Amino acid sequence: MDVPGRARVEETRPGGMKSRGWAIEARALGKNFGPVRALDQLDLQVSEGEFFGFLGPNGAGKTTTLHLFATLLRPSRGTALVFGRDIVRGDLAVRQSIGLVFQETTLDRDLSAEENLRFAGRLWGLPESTIRARTEEVLRPFDLFDRRNDLVRTFSGGMRRAVEVARGLLHRPRLLFLDEPTTGLDPRARRTLWSAIHGLRASLGMTLFLTTHYVEEAEPCDRVAILDRGRIVALGSPAELKSAAGVDSLEDVFLATAGRSLPEAHAPMAPADSED
Ligand SMILES: Nc1ncnc2c1ncn2[C@@H]1O[C@H](COP(=O)(O)OP(=O)(O)OP(=O)(O)O)[C@@H](O)[C@H]1O
Ligand SMILES: [Mg+2]
Repeated sequence: MDVPGRARVEETRPGGMKSRGWAIEARALGKNFGPVRALDQLDLQVSEGEFFGFLGPNGAGKTTTLHLFATLLRPSRGTALVFGRDIVRGDLAVRQSIGLVFQETTLDRDLSAEENLRFAGRLWGLPESTIRARTEEVLRPFDLFDRRNDLVRTFSGGMRRAVEVARGLLHRPRLLFLDEPTTGLDPRARRTLWSAIHGLRASLGMTLFLTTHYVEEAEPCDRVAILDRGRIVALGSPAELKSAAGVDSLEDVFLATAGRSLPEAHAPMAPADSED
């Protein structure tokens, strides 16, 4: 599958990978909810084509960060660019280049899989013929094309997640945000979902930004950030993080950096300097 309009400027980016530019650049990005400093001061650059993982305990600020990048929230301070477009001033352009699979399910269970996708395709302004072709393109890798006419309410949790990921890919985004895509799925359903996502990622040349609680899912990431109480406490390739912490697993890195703060993760942070 060839996706037009992709500049391919080869440069070396963090982690030593070859890249085509920045997908995300955040500078001192922050978000408050009343007294809670959900995201403190995020400085982060993600390369186009990178598979980036965001790990952190409940309440660390992962979803908040994704929603800022996806222009669903406005920052309290700082800036971020997605493919060079400002998330506030260029929010429409940003939305056209991204897909987002929400942490909470957002499918209409009384529609079929195909109807859910067609609805999203029309919102994207895609022609009907494109929607039909892409529906097959995105459902086949998840083995759901033959079930496309069945109501979503008859699907298992894993199948519903797959339909949500498929819907997020319908407009062939350059960057896909996945907010805990596999929570609640059994190991087989997780493996099926990941193999389809990676297949589509390879064919679309897509950047993936993942949040997960399954630490082992972050192992194949190019780089991982561990977020704790709205701050990045560790950033690097899985190998770099393990070696810096002197441990053998990412889970041990997670426990050594963010694990200690689990009990008070939902407590209010330092006083905020602005509120939303
Ligand atoms: N709309 C909101 N209004 C008020 N507080 C919020 C809102 N959204 C998030 N928060 C708070 O911001 C902090 C970060 O929440 P966020 O949802 O970003 O965490 P998370 O890392 O995604 O957690 P989880 O792993 O449980 O999904 C939490 O303290 C949460 O209570
Ligand atoms: Mg979340």
